[in-house]
Amino acid sequence: MADTTFGPKGWTPNRLGSLAGKTYVITGGNAGAGFEASRIFLSKGAQVVMLNRSAEKSTAAVVALKEEFGTDAEVSFVRMDLSDLASVRAAADEVLKTVPQIDALICNAAIAQVPTQQLTVDGFESQLGTNHYGHFVLCGMLFDRIDASKGRIVVVASLGYNMGIKTIQFDDMNWDKNYSANPVYSQSKLAQMMFAYELQDRLKGTVKDVSIYVCHPGASATSLISSSGGLMTRLTWWLMSKTPMVQTAERGSYPEVMCATEDGLEQRALYGPTGLMQTGGPVGKGTLNPHAYDKDVMEKLWRVSEEATDFSWEI
Ligand SMILES: NC(=O)c1ccc[n+]([C@@H]2O[C@H](COP(=O)([O-])OP(=O)(O)OC[C@H]3O[C@@H](n4cnc5c(N)ncnc54)[C@H](OP(=O)(O)O)[C@@H]3O)[C@@H](O)[C@H]2O)c1
Repeated sequence: MADTTFGPKGWTPNRLGSLAGKTYVITGGNAGAGFEASRIFLSKGAQVVMLNRSAEKSTAAVVALKEEFGTDAEVSFVRMDLSDLASVRAAADEVLKTVPQIDALICNAAIAQVPTQQLTVDGFESQLGTNHYGHFVLCGMLFDRIDASKGRIVVVASLGYNMGIKTIQFDDMNWDKNYSANPVYSQSKLAQMMFAYELQDRLKGTVKDVSIYVCHPGASATSLISSSGGLMTRLTWWLMSKTPMVQTAERGSYPEVMCATEDGLEQRALYGPTGLMQTGGPVGKGTLNPHAYDKDVMEKLWRVSEEATDFSWEI
């Protein structure tokens, strides 16, 4: 049954008041749902710092946003390639030097449906490396700043966590033996969710003041599939995007904006569209299946992630 906490239309940006004085740091803000989320934040007077891979796309996004919201709009980007941990560390250092307050760090960037196995410069399967390990280190490095800001971490997940093997393939993290685009993407998004729920557990009983929320954009017309998917997946997605099953990128951004701003949300939850198959419709609390917070798997994933990235969280 659809969550009606926010009324029949669900959560919309109409609920937002002024966000002046707030700073949102978002990965992948130059396209898709991340760009639309940035637009909403800026429209309410917030500052937005985007952490993006392509400098060219980012410069174009900043120009477009300043055209829309005026030259005084506080929007900037730091170049960061999530698939390269040295780049993630350098970008985090730059943010720590230049961004004194982080009201929310939104882990939005991702690649998806990469058709053949590719490895990152650090030797990780590309979707796990980019979507999970990159954000794992980024969140860890920015955590104290978010804590000092009494801020939030928002993980943008995917309903794909319900597909594939629904757990983590610890004995072959790079999928050397059985690579297949969709299960590997699905596992990378499940890993991001498990990171978020395990972080919630680790924060319980501490004096840390950071809330962790998980959401997904449903099925939204963005550049995700055209950027990294194979030909057949691109074709199928293109056909689907001509149907009402796929909503706009702007609507796809509502769950992450909601999780970055709304008070009173639950942390052990999954927010997103609540309509048919939860791919579109009013935004609210959706279904969260328990394999996403299987404690043994979450704890092991945390240990494996610290070891793989050579990054130790101090909580
Ligand atoms: N669209 C959907 O239907 C859908 C469904 C389920 C979940 N999601 C999730 O929604 C989130 C937003 O995706 P979207 O659909 O808006 O996709 P999108 O339009 O392709 O945007 C993805 C963003 O991620 C950035 N990015 C990709 N690789 C990166 C890297 N190595 N380092 C830094 N940034 C990188 C891209 O920027 P560059 O080009 O500069 O790298 C881009 O800004 C993702 O987490 C995705 O998994 C989307």
